[in-house]
Amino acid sequence: MSRKTLNIGLFGFGCVGFGLYEVLQKTPGLKANIKNICVKNPDKKREIGSENFTFNADDLLNNPEINVIVELIDDADAAFEITKRALKSGKAVVSANKKMVAEHFGELLQLQRENNVPLLYEAACCASMPIIRNLEEYYDNDLLDSIQGIVNGSTNYILTKTSRDNISYDEALKQAQDAGYAESNPILDTGGFDAKYKLLILLAHSFGYIAKPDDLLNIGINNLGGVELKYAREKGLKIKLVAQAFKQNDGTVGAFVLPKFVSPEDRLYNVDDVFNGVVTKTSFADEQFFVGRGAGAHPTASAVLSDISALTYDYRYEY
Ligand code: HSE
Repeated sequence: MSRKTLNIGLFGFGCVGFGLYEVLQKTPGLKANIKNICVKNPDKKREIGSENFTFNADDLLNNPEINVIVELIDDADAAFEITKRALKSGKAVVSANKKMVAEHFGELLQLQRENNVPLLYEAACCASMPIIRNLEEYYDNDLLDSIQGIVNGSTNYILTKTSRDNISYDEALKQAQDAGYAESNPILDTGGFDAKYKLLILLAHSFGYIAKPDDLLNIGINNLGGVELKYAREKGLKIKLVAQAFKQNDGTVGAFVLPKFVSPEDRLYNVDDVFNGVVTKTSFADEQFFVGRGAGAHPTASAVLSDISALTYDYRYEY
């Protein structure tokens, strides 16, 4: 198979951006190189030399040599502007921004069609676990009945630390932040919003159902009290923040994010720490279980790398 050479314009050089830079250094066989990196803060000390950096988005978006934009910034609105401009100028986009994808699914789909360029975002959902491409390809003809899982690494880390290791909620959250797992506004994790954005992406790729964040209920772990933790401990259960979507009897799809008591028989019971786990049920394959690291620099960068690699053979989602 002949593969394209990719010249990447990278937006963002935080935890995942630097992770991607490191991962690309270790994959010399891939025909992809970072041409320029656009960052926001000129005063921040960077791990690599300054010749690659710019503070002007136009240097990437107007550069005809750059054929792929990799967008790894935190701000979903800014990410949407960058993605729109990139697609309109015929550049493929790889993004890890679940909020942007979940909020603008319809517009992003239209832009891809109008401009005939792909947007890939495996890293936006469950980091290292290749769930989107599996939903797209493997289950193409096998009807999905339900999908449920732990899709947020930070809250799973906090729940594991508070129940198994007796660490306080605040200390566990701080550890998740220090490890680079948590969003810069951690209420997105603890309030179940991040899990909801990921569920919206899963819904689109599993059931072809495009909804908006306000359409789905999310209850996070931030209001759980000692009572629930004590109950779980006494009964040999664990509390997990579970995102689920399932076909209802009338043919519609139900979906929500809620904390749930899970028993040792449940596949999600042993998904601890920063790991994510997803269980699918389909007509023919029956039950399948995916597991992998749900946050962190290299695990997230591995999904971005996989999308970059997929672009070298012009892969695109079919929707
Ligand atoms: N804050 C997210 C999480 C990062 O903890 O799962 C990965 O999407």
